[in-house]
Amino acid sequence: MGPKRNLDNHNRMYIYAYYYALLYIARFNLTTLWGGRFTQSAHSDLWNFTVSHEDRRLLSFDIQASMAHVKMLAHCHIIPESECDEILKGLGTLLEESETNRFVFLDTDEDIHSAVERRLKEIIGDVAGKLHTGRSRNDQILVDLKLYLLQSARNRTRQLRELIKTFVAQADKTKNLIAPVYTHLQQAQAVSFAHHLLAYAWMFKRDLDRFNSLIERLDISPLGACAGGGTSLGIDPKHSANMLGFKNVFRNSIDTVASRDFVSEYAFCVSQSMIHLSRLGEEIILWSTKEFNWITLPDELTTGSSMLPQKKNPDMAELLRGKCSGAIGDLVAILSLQKNLPLAYNRDLQEDKTYLFRSDDTLEASLKASHALIASAKFHPKEPDPMILAIDLAERLVKKGVPFRSAHQMVGQLVLSLEKTDKSFSDVASTDLESQTDNLTFDDLRNLNLETSLRERQSYGGGSIASVERQIGQLLIFLEEGQGA
Ligand code: ARG
Repeated sequence: MGPKRNLDNHNRMYIYAYYYALLYIARFNLTTLWGGRFTQSAHSDLWNFTVSHEDRRLLSFDIQASMAHVKMLAHCHIIPESECDEILKGLGTLLEESETNRFVFLDTDEDIHSAVERRLKEIIGDVAGKLHTGRSRNDQILVDLKLYLLQSARNRTRQLRELIKTFVAQADKTKNLIAPVYTHLQQAQAVSFAHHLLAYAWMFKRDLDRFNSLIERLDISPLGACAGGGTSLGIDPKHSANMLGFKNVFRNSIDTVASRDFVSEYAFCVSQSMIHLSRLGEEIILWSTKEFNWITLPDELTTGSSMLPQKKNPDMAELLRGKCSGAIGDLVAILSLQKNLPLAYNRDLQEDKTYLFRSDDTLEASLKASHALIASAKFHPKEPDPMILAIDLAERLVKKGVPFRSAHQMVGQLVLSLEKTDKSFSDVASTDLESQTDNLTFDDLRNLNLETSLRERQSYGGGSIASVERQIGQLLIFLEEGQGA
């Protein structure tokens, strides 16, 4: 019994070893898209180092682009209609799996393209091998990424539009409140508080415009550039571009597979919006201090201190500031990925997705947070220091014909003397002005107050209530028409 059993075990072990060896050798030939030329399977360190997981969020775009590609192949008689139908049916199943989150990725999937082809083969068999006819992963990754970014850019513009709408609504509520505008963080001029809020609305409108103009440059199909030099197979890139809804098609296959300036631009659009949000965050932080006390945020959007019972912290605004640094870092990483790369495609470019997706996710979350903050904030700015009226007084003198430089000098001297005695313009008596020239009279100081300051300062785009109302009107037209103001 003993020896026989050993023999059985031996045989069994031999069979297992043979089976596993076959599987191991077959593993890479079966699951990579490039096994034929290799006599050794990939080392596990290489595999773990090179595999892309970031691109998994491109799954549905990869399937849709593959559908357009295979239809184009049939349209150009490169594959028969019957095979096209088989492949389309399989891709349809994949799309369903993707949409219902049932698509299972394997450790052996090198990237999203390999995963799709592997799964397709599992479903429809060898005909799946025809899908990659006349294309390369170099143009495929680009088409996936562009479809993804077109969708994301449109989502970001929608979010920016909502944020602008909220600023406009808050501006309308606060237009009669008077606040200082600051330069060097020192009070400078009196303005309607809404002028501050609208400053942000205009920044976010430019961010929105920037995403829209990027959409024009994203809207160019790269499919058909292949590995970088085209193909002999008689494909029609315009046909697949049309089916995917692209406005234009690439002109140069090398430039196409080599270039990621659309990625840099997207990351710049994100960074610039994040910079604006970080400035808004800083303002909210400043305004929520006891010293300023210009804003009250609802409890649900603030946090407490684990030690100090009285604290109510504007953490969301602080994180807007903090997260901006990551977005700038991601932009710099994307730019430096491309520096000095020889033409055309290089694997370095796979890394772009890590930074790009992270920064876009940051913007998406930050826009959501800022919308919540602005929509629910109560604004109660403090009136400015009365000395802020100095420029209004000087401009009254200019209106009488005094050169601005002399008016500036005279009002400056008056400010100096008032400061020494801790007085302001309203405390000036007619006798106080005797030492001044005739150009600055007691009459000039009549009705010099915050309300007249705003009323008299009617310059276009300035801080008067009329200007704020005009801006609200301009922004409402933009919001209603969905185009530039
Ligand atoms: N995973 C690659 C990327 O994200 C796709 C192209 C790979 N091409 C190649 N020949 N390895 O950029």
